[in-house]
Amino acid sequence: MKELVLSESADRFIKRLSKLSEKKQMTLTESHPWDEPYNENAWLKKRENLSIYGTKYYDLATEEERIRLAKLETGGWWASFIALENLVTEYYMKLINHQSLAQFPSVVEYMMHFCKEEIVHSMVFRKAMEHFRIEPVEISEFIKDFYQDNASMEEFPLKAIYLTIIIEWFAENNAMLDLQNDFVSPLAAAIAFEHNKEETRHIAWGKRMVTELCHQVPGFMEEAREFTPGFLRGLVDTIFGNMDVLERANFSHPAFQDIETYFETVLFSENKKRIDSEIMTPIFEFFVEIGIYHTDYRSYWEESRFDEIIDSILEKQTAETI
Ligand SMILES: [Fe+2]
Ligand SMILES: [Fe+2]
Repeated sequence: MKELVLSESADRFIKRLSKLSEKKQMTLTESHPWDEPYNENAWLKKRENLSIYGTKYYDLATEEERIRLAKLETGGWWASFIALENLVTEYYMKLINHQSLAQFPSVVEYMMHFCKEEIVHSMVFRKAMEHFRIEPVEISEFIKDFYQDNASMEEFPLKAIYLTIIIEWFAENNAMLDLQNDFVSPLAAAIAFEHNKEETRHIAWGKRMVTELCHQVPGFMEEAREFTPGFLRGLVDTIFGNMDVLERANFSHPAFQDIETYFETVLFSENKKRIDSEIMTPIFEFFVEIGIYHTDYRSYWEESRFDEIIDSILEKQTAETI
């Protein structure tokens, strides 16, 4: 493989990110209002973003059940964060130790900050689960096997970096949307905001790495164009389609017994479409910009039911250029 090149401006940008990481960091004990008393009825996400919102199931659920569902859906994200943050730390540290990225010292330095931040994040999420008395939520298989399936030690790890930022970016947009609301527990909101501060840097780093290297790593673009839509569909449906969450929400109305109809309704609802669009639009704008979205691969976006979001981005861009 030809030697990879990182531009000088990218190098400066990454060094700046390291400086920012050194300046201010989340701590396990001081960054959040942990003294918030435990309240069984606290909302852990906004009502409008509940999977059942806008469907008949919302009306059939009691208020107590809705609160429990909000708690489990947020707990599901926290559990997924913990798993991914542990896996990414293990994998990135392995890359550093194997000198896989030694050609880019600024990248190695930033990755060490990145890993340290993820270690603290996962401790914070674990503490949050304990605070809100949420038993670990069963997370999807594809998250568990993520780095085994996608991260090799031989080639340059751009695919793993790319997939990692997609997950981080998507999850952050989701958390900001779920928790930016007055009636949500201030502790739960602080957990999201403090995490977002550091994740914003992780995402900026990942985007820069991808932008710089996507055409240099052989085969990366073709592969990314092919797997990205399906991968994102799996990701965006992971909590709304979670069986463990449904079982533990323990809805009393008999309509919830028909599991197939239930999942079909919540995964295809108008409200879900709105949430998907709000979460995905900034990410897809990036895909359009760097060419991950490509008309030759249009059918993949249609199959994953993302074509409407893509079209509205393209229309907006056309309108702006006229
Ligand atoms: Fe994190
Ligand atoms: Fe992160």
